[in-house]
Amino acid sequence: MSKQLVKKYYTGYVRKEWRRLINSAYYKLEFDTTLYFLKKYLPKKGLILDAGGGPGRYTIELAKQGYNIVLLDLTSANLEFAKRQIKKANLQNRVNDVVDGSITDLSKFANGTFDGVICLGGPLSHVLDKEERNKAISELIRVAKKGAPIFVSVMSRWSLLVSQLKLFPQEIEHPLFRKIRDTGDYTGGYGFTACHFFLPEELKESFAKKSVKILEMVGLEGLGSHFQKKINKLAKNKKRWKIWLETHYKICTHPVVVGMSEHILIICRKT
Ligand SMILES: C[S@@+](CC[C@H](N)C(=O)[O-])C[C@H]1O[C@@H](n2cnc3c(N)ncnc32)[C@H](O)[C@@H]1O
Repeated sequence: MSKQLVKKYYTGYVRKEWRRLINSAYYKLEFDTTLYFLKKYLPKKGLILDAGGGPGRYTIELAKQGYNIVLLDLTSANLEFAKRQIKKANLQNRVNDVVDGSITDLSKFANGTFDGVICLGGPLSHVLDKEERNKAISELIRVAKKGAPIFVSVMSRWSLLVSQLKLFPQEIEHPLFRKIRDTGDYTGGYGFTACHFFLPEELKESFAKKSVKILEMVGLEGLGSHFQKKINKLAKNKKRWKIWLETHYKICTHPVVVGMSEHILIICRKT
């Protein structure tokens, strides 16, 4: 049920999703910080699974860097768009396959197929059922080679409460506010689609039980989370922006910053 809702939602937002990560300095923080950590941990070359890769922003970036990619997503409209972008960028020889599928069932791929697995910008958050989420985590790990890095970023629960305070303070009295606060679960229907908002310790625990070593947790928007206008203004001043970015990269792995960031990235290595 929630899968259908998610698919319908993203079918209506293909172009917006494609632009999302490069829209402004604020949104680029998520993209650039993720790329920074991909560079830190991915092997120099190899086959990468972009799971829940949407319209293919990371697929194209990594293909340009010389990786071979398999792109998988639930939303066919995203994949059709991605195919056009891949062709436009002349990267068909780098993108081995574009697959319509769910991260909860990667049975199309044998154990240990990929040199790196990325699942970025919240696909795991869109799996509302806890058992299914757990299955998705097992699948993402199963298809990675031993020693391969796995990167998963999700939406954060505390950050969602800040969004409510900032954008819809009158709705704090709605029962949904307490439900999300206490469970992280949002079944959709008011603007956004079905989503599980993670606590950092919850994300960590759900990977810690598996055959992986956790390498880092990162707050992708960091201390600047929710300050879209301030960040975009600051980015226009080269000198100040340089110092902000230096600060961001210095503290984005601090547990407090991780917990309040809009997106939380976990990086682990298959053991
Ligand atoms: C916010 S977008 C992120 C896209 C891309 N990874 C990025 O960071 O730009 C979330 C994507 O997750 C996909 N998605 C949601 N649930 C999924 C599932 N169970 N399996 C695969 N993809 C899923 C959606 O179709 C959508 O393309």
